[in-house]
Amino acid sequence: MCGIAGYIGYKAAAPVLLAALRKLEYRGYDSAGIAVLEPDGRLSVHKAKGELSVLEKRLKNASLFGTLGIAHTRWATHGEPSDINSHPHTNMEGNVAVVHNGIIENYAAIKLWLENRNVKFQSDTDTEVIAHLVTYYLKEEESRPDIKDENVLFNAVRTALSKLEGSYALAVCSSLFPEQIIAARKDCPLVVGLGQNEYFLASDIPAMLEHTREVLFLEDNELAVLCRNNAALYSTDNDRIERKVSHVEWDAGAAEKSGYPHFMLKEIHEQPGAIANTLRPRLCRDAAGAPLDIGFEDYGVKLDFANIERITLTACGTAAHAALIGKGAFEYFARLSVAMEIASEFRYCNPVLGEKDLVIVVSQSGETADTLAAMRLAKSRGAKILAITNVVGSTLAREAGSVLYTYAGPEIAVASTKAFTSQLVCLYLLALKAAKERGVMDSDNFRAALNALDKIPEGVKTALSALEAVQRFAARQYNKNKVFFMGRQFDYATAMESALKLKEINYTHSEAFAAGELKHGPIALVDNGTLVVALATQRALFDKLVSNIREVTSRGAASVAITWQGEAEKLFSKVCDEVFALPPVPDAFSPLLSIVPAQLFAYYCAIQRGNNPDKPRNLAKSVTVE
Ligand code: F6R
Repeated sequence: MCGIAGYIGYKAAAPVLLAALRKLEYRGYDSAGIAVLEPDGRLSVHKAKGELSVLEKRLKNASLFGTLGIAHTRWATHGEPSDINSHPHTNMEGNVAVVHNGIIENYAAIKLWLENRNVKFQSDTDTEVIAHLVTYYLKEEESRPDIKDENVLFNAVRTALSKLEGSYALAVCSSLFPEQIIAARKDCPLVVGLGQNEYFLASDIPAMLEHTREVLFLEDNELAVLCRNNAALYSTDNDRIERKVSHVEWDAGAAEKSGYPHFMLKEIHEQPGAIANTLRPRLCRDAAGAPLDIGFEDYGVKLDFANIERITLTACGTAAHAALIGKGAFEYFARLSVAMEIASEFRYCNPVLGEKDLVIVVSQSGETADTLAAMRLAKSRGAKILAITNVVGSTLAREAGSVLYTYAGPEIAVASTKAFTSQLVCLYLLALKAAKERGVMDSDNFRAALNALDKIPEGVKTALSALEAVQRFAARQYNKNKVFFMGRQFDYATAMESALKLKEINYTHSEAFAAGELKHGPIALVDNGTLVVALATQRALFDKLVSNIREVTSRGAASVAITWQGEAEKLFSKVCDEVFALPPVPDAFSPLLSIVPAQLFAYYCAIQRGNNPDKPRNLAKSVTVE
């Protein structure tokens, strides 16, 4: 959601910034812009509604030579997508430029205050107030006789920030101070990249991986001052902050498409590796290599399940579906009663929590505003917090205390795939660990479960081999106007995730139903324009599901089942138009495999329809505002 890039150094800033914006495209945007400080002292600002290519076209004749600049991809919140509302926003003199991610909640009051001081606004955005407010305090700073030139812009930004309510990651540059970029964050991510006599700024690491792997993560209420020969962090009280430089392990290729037509397809195919990377370092093995136990050598993960009375899982979207499967896993393996709460509800429901509670917070990005708010609330009530996240150094990782990382590598496509299955791995490991510690699973069953998990990466590879069959099926079904996913137990949660994937990238009205609920209402919707996808992996409930499939096909629906190879495949072939069969694993681990054909189905439907699956309309990768 909105992407920020900044550069100060010795190279032409514009190509560096545009390349960085390309890497941030996945976050979702509807317009883009750039401001470069030119050698003649002018701040050259260019903005365009639409894809980055529109801005690039406009820049063809712009001849930008400056070596300092800031840039932005905007995802509209205040004011429609338009050239004028795009960032950077400038002051009336055109000598201060600002890019901003987040929402300034009190912008209307500030705007009025500034208008009463004869400031004229150009856009409908909340961001523009920052450019004018900084200018107002610049004038105050410049009138101070004691002030050093190098501190003027920094102080003016700091004072402006003290007036803002809401969330922000922002960058400010000015032609009056041609050797500095000032950046700041509160509740939105921002990273400083350290080069040799050049410094980078971005909302996310992939935007700078081409240039550096040494980064400083800004924390809330911190500012960064980027100069040509150094970068320093400060608190809003002006205290210098010494932050350890983080080394990023991701290789630059991980954020490229590597020959795949889309990031989404690449990330679906990366699942065997992502699952193995998340699982295998945590398995302790015997001399023969068979998994014996689970060891979490992660950041501060010390869980004493014997002393935890209640677990609540909280997350949004796909991560919430992983959490729902996690709830099932804790109950199934550890016989622990667990709640799953959508983070955007949990944060407002005044939950009953205390020291005996463990709250597990699941988030790919670690930056989702609702998820962070839920985590902070649980923390303030004294609950223990464990984060499951994919992004090292994310706000969630830093604030949670205990973190179990998914090692999925950067997930660029907006629709989450490999992060989901990697989150599941962490949740299964936790559930099994809890089962062992609570003495509810004997060691044979425990080891058998670990053994089965250990084989999942190979099972996912086999599941991926259904690709062409799924592609052919999608070519026939992509324009169905209703697609219902149904299943029971673990399959119900997988059905929810499958329906979300199809909604997100194919814009189909797709819903998930617990198969037993169909006749309590939803079956009234079924007609010969409906496709029903039956998630059919819960062996004890096959007969029930076969009856549910008959109920919908007899009302004209087309049907497909996702089930196990062998007898199950034969059984469902008798009642469905199509079957995608998976290598058998225990019922409880089925979502790790059964989601794969559903992900591929959504992907190929979107391709048939001509949608770009990596950049679905209206969606952003990281939802950093409420
Ligand atoms: C769906 C999707 C979203 C995210 C949700 C939470 O494909 O990607 O539903 O799962 O916005 O994001 P994170 O996991 O980053 O907190």
